[in-house]
Amino acid sequence: MSAVIPKGGTGKSTMLRALASVALHRGYSVTLIDGDRRQNMSRWFQMLGDAGNRPDSLQLVSAMTPQEIVEAAVRHNSERSVVLIDTEGTTNDNLMAGLYAADIVVVPIYFALDDVTAAIQVTDHYIPLAVESRGRPLPTVFVLTKQTIIDGRARALTELRAIIQANGTPVAEHMLHNRVAYRDLQTGQTLYTPTEPDAKAIAESEGVFDDVLKTFIEATRHVA
Ligand SMILES: Nc1ncnc2c1ncn2[C@@H]1O[C@H](COP(=O)(O)OP(=O)(O)O)[C@@H](O)[C@H]1O
Ligand SMILES: [Mg+2]
Repeated sequence: MSAVIPKGGTGKSTMLRALASVALHRGYSVTLIDGDRRQNMSRWFQMLGDAGNRPDSLQLVSAMTPQEIVEAAVRHNSERSVVLIDTEGTTNDNLMAGLYAADIVVVPIYFALDDVTAAIQVTDHYIPLAVESRGRPLPTVFVLTKQTIIDGRARALTELRAIIQANGTPVAEHMLHNRVAYRDLQTGQTLYTPTEPDAKAIAESEGVFDDVLKTFIEATRHVA
């Protein structure tokens, strides 16, 4: 399984770290493909190692070119393995390679007009391009991130919700809330390694992981 989250600043890398945490905890071998020139995933991998929190089943590939991204995704895609492709928050060839190589695309949605329209640009424009060039469908799922209590209640967000619904892309049942535990994924920790892990963050991340898997399996069944 590969995943791509092609919008920056919305918590894309953080979500992938949470999903990587869940996958490792469940006994998958995980490959992180860092397709972001800022190399934030590579830094996390390094920090996990320094802190003694890096399982042997975690691998990292620093991919600087579209070819490297696609090759790494193919090479690391096997049974009981999860390949997570992190891309930059800009539209470039690495982003397209991430889409081209993916089995499912996870688009994080942060409740702001700019981020919602960016997500829709992905589903309406870039994904069709990727589907055409590789000749097979590309299931996509939206995941709400950095959610606050305010987001759940604000009336102004009704309109954004309507835009998301009209788009037709499935929205994961579970969402990631705004939590300190996710901020701490910028240190040498996974969701499970702190002395007092955040049970809520773990539960919702496991829920998102299952939702993504479910969308993937359903989409595969439709094709078959
Ligand atoms: N669910 C969350 N709760 C709290 N903070 C978050 C959450 N997701 C992301 N952040 C914070 O938001 C910032 C941007 O997140 P990041 O994952 O680096 O975004 P991107 O990879 O899309 O650029 C970081 O400071 C990160 O710690
Ligand atoms: Mg990032």
